[in-house]
Amino acid sequence: MTRYSTGAIALHWLIAFALAFELALGFAMPRGVEGFALFQLHKSVGIAILALTVVRLGWRLAHPRPAPLERGLAHAAAHGVHVGFYAFMVLAPLTGWALVSTAPVNVPTVLFGIVPLPHLPLPGSINEMVEETHELLAWCGIALFLLHVAGALRHEILLRDRLLERMAPGGSRPLGGLLALGVIALGIAAFLAIGSRQAPASEAEALPPQAEQTAEAVLPEATPSPSEEATATAEEEPGAIPQWKIRPGGRLAFSVGNGDAGTIDGSFAKWQGAIAFDPDRPETADIRITVDLASASVGDATQDGMLAGDEFFAVSQFGKAVFSASSARQTAPGRYTAKGTLQMKGMTLPQTISFRLAGEGLHRKAQGSATIARTAFGIGEGSAAESLDPNVSVSFSFEADGTVPAN
Ligand code: HEM
Ligand code: HEM
Repeated sequence: MTRYSTGAIALHWLIAFALAFELALGFAMPRGVEGFALFQLHKSVGIAILALTVVRLGWRLAHPRPAPLERGLAHAAAHGVHVGFYAFMVLAPLTGWALVSTAPVNVPTVLFGIVPLPHLPLPGSINEMVEETHELLAWCGIALFLLHVAGALRHEILLRDRLLERMAPGGSRPLGGLLALGVIALGIAAFLAIGSRQAPASEAEALPPQAEQTAEAVLPEATPSPSEEATATAEEEPGAIPQWKIRPGGRLAFSVGNGDAGTIDGSFAKWQGAIAFDPDRPETADIRITVDLASASVGDATQDGMLAGDEFFAVSQFGKAVFSASSARQTAPGRYTAKGTLQMKGMTLPQTISFRLAGEGLHRKAQGSATIARTAFGIGEGSAAESLDPNVSVSFSFEADGTVPAN
């Protein structure tokens, strides 16, 4: 017998393609919520590799291999790489599985959107160690891959002993070569394609409050200086305070650090505001923003369900969060802060928001942010939230039209 059995060949290439894709996916998938679907795919493909490997090991025991072409050191090296590969194919998925089973934020896995993967009964204390091992194994896998391909090339180019034919479907060398190139190409292409998906920042992310330069771009072109404004205010008759109607299309987003896993970003789909505000007389402001907490989404149904649950918003009991402020203060041209209160999960605590206004007259664009101490409100309790930062950044942007009520 000079070739591997058809089953062994099929499994070799199937697993090789899956592994190339899986490694690329693992390194390139974005951490945080935008990578959620890719994480599910990574876990699904990883467990599929584990299942295929079990079949492959069974197959190998039942079907004899062709006798080795070489003896001595070269044989030992090739054999070492093959044994290493088998160990890697079992341990990489197992450490991945252990990693998600012990993660502080409990995210369920549904393989290919169909089969739920139970968590392994392992202590949370080993999470960091398993995560490091998983990454280390991935690098070992790449090293094995390079050694394995170098070995195959040595046989092809230096020894010309047609080794590839032993692992090629139908013993066809061109087909073997094509499959080999395909495996490498898939790994590189997947890495580049997934890596380049990381860019689309949400509108809120594109304008973080500290990004002063970006912020300046949205300021009105001819913003009066504070002194000019003060004179103008003094000279004008203090008319009625404009009431603002928020246009559809606004955004209220939140973001919270989640340890090594990056950040969790989401937004509220339903919220409304009753705003009385005169940009020239911010002290007369009356602002009330009501947020429907059940409309919070991080882009994944399972996690959204957790957000609505008792450990987070407890929406069945406390459906709304309300920010109210009865005054605001100008801090720079077009920039304001409003100190008020935030009522959430049965508690009312002091809360400051800051914002800037662009536009003129009775059509303005507001953009702002706030930092909310979630733990003070009892939001994110229990082990599921252990690695979440205690502070959540909230950002909003909307356009509004003002009307001045008749006196
Ligand atoms: C042969 C199978 C697998 C390979 C080759 C593989 C490879 C990788 C690689 C290269 C990374 C990125 C490492 C880093 O940059 O930190 C990664 C991360 C990860 N893998 Fe896997 N993986 C496999 C199976 C699995 C399985 C079965 C699961 C779960 C059921 C899993 C869960 C994860 C998770 C959650 C991360 C993210 C760790 C983090 O950055 O927080 N992996 N994997
Ligand atoms: C470009 C990619 C690849 C090429 C050209 C290639 C080529 C080969 C060849 C020619 C053999 C037969 C060696 C012999 O007869 O002694 C072989 C065996 C083997 N390959 Fe690959 N391979 C590739 C990718 C992979 C990958 C990604 C894996 C990872 C799982 C892998 C795992 C193995 C294993 C474990 C064996 C030994 C099979 C056994 O004896 O049980 N190969 N490979």
